[in-house]
Amino acid sequence: MAAQSNAPLLVAPSDNIFVLTGAGISAESGIPTFRGVNGLWEKYRIEELATPEAFDRDPALVWRFYSWRRRVAKWCQPNAGHIALAEAENQLGERVFICTQNVDSLHEQAGATRVLHMHGKLFESRCERRACGTQPFADQKEYEPDALPSCECGSRVRPNICWFGEVPHHMDTVMQALRRCSVFVSVGTSGVVEPAASFAAFAQQGKSRKIRTVYVGPEEPANLHLFTDFYSGKATEVLPKLFAF
Ligand code: OAD
Repeated sequence: MAAQSNAPLLVAPSDNIFVLTGAGISAESGIPTFRGVNGLWEKYRIEELATPEAFDRDPALVWRFYSWRRRVAKWCQPNAGHIALAEAENQLGERVFICTQNVDSLHEQAGATRVLHMHGKLFESRCERRACGTQPFADQKEYEPDALPSCECGSRVRPNICWFGEVPHHMDTVMQALRRCSVFVSVGTSGVVEPAASFAAFAQQGKSRKIRTVYVGPEEPANLHLFTDFYSGKATEVLPKLFAF
């Protein structure tokens, strides 16, 4: 059972810290979470907006949703939680690995330089046809139903987001970092979406001694049993204290 904690994280010179973040870390910056009161999936149906089938059925509706999310995210600023993580990364260098399920760029805006976006990036688009060979490109635009983007190859352009039913991005790098880490910290994720919900278990696998697995958030996640420590509170309150070293 996870112990309630509020002490700073004690990091040994040999420690590698894997940080997994979810929608909760950006909530205090004004980006809505997915689940819970006022969560996005309370108002919208996942299968109508965040699946490849939804894009096939109604690309204009899907683009309207992601254009709206771009509009919201453009005005958001990183909060004290993002800043605490960026400072930890600046201080400890490659010993801190930040992997986010979030598609916003608030970690980077806070100064973090090596953030892995496993669910893609809100401000990138790509050709929907993988075989086209073109790379995802930076894209801040909001698209109207009568002017949807298309690729030079003639296929449709879609948000560079990992939708339900698709394989998360950069999973080889993520698994390597999980194998390497000696401390696992998860912030603001409800622990219901795989594979991220199992990362705390993967981090433990194959290691001879039990590693610390820390959860930070105002509510218990669904996978609380995987954590040794539970820091109850908002990211902006807990992270600056947790990473005060
Ligand atoms: P959820 O919306 O499922 O969970 C957000 C979590 O953040 C909840 O557990 C809240 O308790 C917590 N939270 C709220 N405010 C917080 C704060 N100020 N500080 C810290 N925590 C706070 O979001 P995720 O778990 O990130 O995927 O969702 C995972 C994936 O499901 C998303 O990446 C998205 C979604 O469907 C795709 O779109 C593919």
